[in-house]
Amino acid sequence: MKRKKPSKSNTFKIKESTVQYYAQEDISFESYLDNITNGDSLAILKLIPNNKINLVITSPPYFKQRDYGGGIGNEKSIDEYIENLINVFSECIRILNNDGSIIFNLGDKYLESNLQLIPYRFALEVIKKFPVKLVNNITWVKLNPTPRQYQKRLVSSTEPFFHFVKNDNYYYNLTDYLNNGPKSKKHNGNNIGKKYFELIENSSLTLEQKKLAFAELQNVIQETKTGKIESFRMKIKGIHSEPFGGQDGGRKYQLLKKGFTIIKIKGEPIKRDVIECAVETIKGSKHPAIYPLYIIKELIKLLSKPNDVVLDPFAGSGTTAVAAKELNRRYIGIEINEDYCKTAKERLKKTNKENFLGLVYAS
Ligand SMILES: C[S@@+](CC[C@H](N)C(=O)[O-])C[C@H]1O[C@@H](n2cnc3c(N)ncnc32)[C@H](O)[C@@H]1O
Repeated sequence: MKRKKPSKSNTFKIKESTVQYYAQEDISFESYLDNITNGDSLAILKLIPNNKINLVITSPPYFKQRDYGGGIGNEKSIDEYIENLINVFSECIRILNNDGSIIFNLGDKYLESNLQLIPYRFALEVIKKFPVKLVNNITWVKLNPTPRQYQKRLVSSTEPFFHFVKNDNYYYNLTDYLNNGPKSKKHNGNNIGKKYFELIENSSLTLEQKKLAFAELQNVIQETKTGKIESFRMKIKGIHSEPFGGQDGGRKYQLLKKGFTIIKIKGEPIKRDVIECAVETIKGSKHPAIYPLYIIKELIKLLSKPNDVVLDPFAGSGTTAVAAKELNRRYIGIEINEDYCKTAKERLKKTNKENFLGLVYAS
């Protein structure tokens, strides 16, 4: 049923019709929650009130890659295609909460052996048009790209996931991203640091300096054995090369004054803008372009909290919704193809939520 939008009033008194209008909006918003809605994403996004979504993760149809039976991707030109995506993106920004994030994953295309750089053209257009920030271009490295053999070009095996935000206050949980559980790498060996005892003993340090070096070495060995740190390196004056530059009180200074310096290695892996993962296929699924559940779950952990609302305006086989459900988030999926909606709903029926220990329980 088409509802009439209330007219704007110059007074601050809220009209009864306005109250009713937004009350209806809220009811319809609820009906999209934890559901896959069949329809055109732009039309449906327009019905969602402002600031309701915490995270958008999506992979729009690629330009002239596949025929999904209508929808975006079959435009005559790349400009037209990007314009259609920009319209959807614009609605995503409007309905995104202020501390939310938008992730768009796009694929590229060769036309007459000429790579079109479509994902980057889209990202540039977004930055030009909207007051958003591009936080990262996360590169998905496909571990099993389609084994084609071209004579005069290499096989494409990466795709970008662009991370956009409205401002610097976006929610971010780096601890939970690519966190494979606590590392209990305790070293029990008796050889840890053994070489340094010998080096200190044979060094030209004064007796005082040697005493301090032995004491500090004992401490870091203990920290390594108990798993507090991953490992360490020691630099001793006259034996190891001096570091260049640095600040007063830094390593160079310690080496000069104390005769040694210890570098502790904390063991936190560097979280890079690259994520490696195989292309997935789902047994029995008719959908030809599914993105990996693993990547989507990691991004959901990074950019949302439990019970947050995660939206995918091009839901396909429902990967985003499945990931959100498993991680105890609410989800909204929009998909134009009725068959894919069915596939997504069937996947969701079989999906269980994980508890905070990562164990699965039936919902
Ligand atoms: C690349 S696929 C998404 C696949 C999905 N990420 C998954 O893992 O299954 C893009 C989807 O967008 C759908 N689509 C195309 N135009 C659309 C539109 N205007 N509104 C909603 N969905 C649309 C297509 O039917 C297709 O399923």
